[in-house]
Amino acid sequence: MTDRASTWHAVALSRKVGTRPHRVMLDGQPFVLFRSGKALHCLTDRCPHRFAPLSQGRVIDDAIECPYHGWRFDGGGRCRSMPGLLEQTPTIAVPAHAVREQNGLIYISPGDQRGEPYAGVLSGPGTVSSVVENRVRSTLLDVAENILDATHTHFTHSGLLRGLSSRRWKVKVSVTGGDGWVEARYEGEPRQEGLISRLLEGERSISVGRFVAPGIAELEFWGRDRINLSTTFHLRQEDDDHVRGFGVLAGPMQGGLGYIKAMLFKPLFMIALRQDQRILTAARDNKPPGARPVICRLDVLRPSIESILRGERPAVADAPFDIIMEL
Ligand code: FES
Ligand SMILES: [Fe+2]
Repeated sequence: MTDRASTWHAVALSRKVGTRPHRVMLDGQPFVLFRSGKALHCLTDRCPHRFAPLSQGRVIDDAIECPYHGWRFDGGGRCRSMPGLLEQTPTIAVPAHAVREQNGLIYISPGDQRGEPYAGVLSGPGTVSSVVENRVRSTLLDVAENILDATHTHFTHSGLLRGLSSRRWKVKVSVTGGDGWVEARYEGEPRQEGLISRLLEGERSISVGRFVAPGIAELEFWGRDRINLSTTFHLRQEDDDHVRGFGVLAGPMQGGLGYIKAMLFKPLFMIALRQDQRILTAARDNKPPGARPVICRLDVLRPSIESILRGERPAVADAPFDIIMEL
């Protein structure tokens, strides 16, 4: 795992996008997704005429029709007709963007393309997976850190991910990284005692938390010799105040997650997400403008996630480190 930087953002569930236009936001910019025939398209969701949202129009004859004056744009963004104009249609276009579809998700890469869409550590045949969608008033940095942060679970998720006892174990955490990614590997922790862990994890020995550009926060839980469970969050900053994520829960079909466990797991997982949502929003609303948070030795991933989000190589890429902590 040397270079994981990618510019692909997961923006929608495949099944949510049909021939009706579908608007998504990414970093404050609107995009519209639509299908015509077998093709999937992504355009900037703004008609160049009077800036009406194309997503409020309809798809007709392989083109998207603006709801205001009916200009039609093909999948490449080119204007194909202007109702009422008897002369030739002038050369006008809306920006079109690279779009891909895999594993039930639609990815876009506005601007320069780099790398591949991230499929998740467990995907493809032999894997069972389930997706949840979530939106929270926060920043991508805070949400990614929250997902990967092992030190909040005792408090935010007491009883669910952790047991009610205050027992902690000494854990060795190894932090490594590279261009566009960072990960922390936790060794020495016996199986967690909370409800979710009991249900799913089996004999856990090692777990890994990882961030991959541009917005992947992923956890993997190892059994004796393989990953028993992974959760891959595809996060994106919709606008200054909101982060939307798709959380893919995955496990091996045989003996691992299984369909029944997956069904039981989803509601518990939603409870955990709501607990996180509540604390993230409360912290966000309580933050004075411009205030900088205290970063402590236990916050092993945050500085790297910050660098990666700025497009820089994290320092840990050239200086990996270990720390023993009590979890
Ligand atoms: S605003 Fe789109 S056609 Fe006029
Ligand atoms: Fe959490």
